Amino acid sequence: MIPAMATEQPIPGFYLVRHPLAELKVSALRDRSTPAPEFRRLLQELSQLVAYEALRDFSVEPVEVETPLATTTGARAVRPLVLVPVLRAGLAMADGILRILPSAAVGHIGMFRNEETLEPVSYYFRLPPGAAGAHVLLLDPMLATGNSLVAAADRLKKEGIPKLTCACIIASRQGVERLRAAHPDMPIYGAALDGELNDRGYITPGLGDAGDRIFGT
Ligand code: URA
Repeated sequence: MIPAMATEQPIPGFYLVRHPLAELKVSALRDRSTPAPEFRRLLQELSQLVAYEALRDFSVEPVEVETPLATTTGARAVRPLVLVPVLRAGLAMADGILRILPSAAVGHIGMFRNEETLEPVSYYFRLPPGAAGAHVLLLDPMLATGNSLVAAADRLKKEGIPKLTCACIIASRQGVERLRAAHPDMPIYGAALDGELNDRGYITPGLGDAGDRIFGT
């Protein structure tokens, strides 16, 4: 039986990237037989597609550009872009996005889940200089319970980040609702919305442990 899609009721502030190319890549990511090198590549490519949508409101302003033939009006960023992957699975998302936005700066948030309480435990936090005035794209491929991303966004807001957007690959409805309730001003973008979490806090059908599949652990 094909499980009911969790996408039937829209969630305000959650944006699903709907594109056949994204669907094909999500499907290959979910496949348990996809080996780590291909998994990593697919996750990087999907992250580019999600970032493309997630940065639709990235602020730019007009700037004069001289082409070899004439002067025209181009665009430049109003504030810097900082990618902040949640370690470790978010690293593969940052790698993919840096290919299309190589000038983005990168910060890191280290968090792991206490497997009993499912609560996040923070062990590392570092932002590049200038992050306080930046548009931050917070990256975690799996938005499951939402606990880690709520804690990550709390921490980033304490640093005075003026603009925060969250990008994931697979989200659970429960996680999106939790994150939206805690941070209603932070839009969330993803490539799939799944219905359920299992008793270990894993998204089902999901794709398993993203970090293990990226790094072959
Ligand atoms: N983290 C993962 O890697 N997978 C899940 O399903 C949930 C959290």
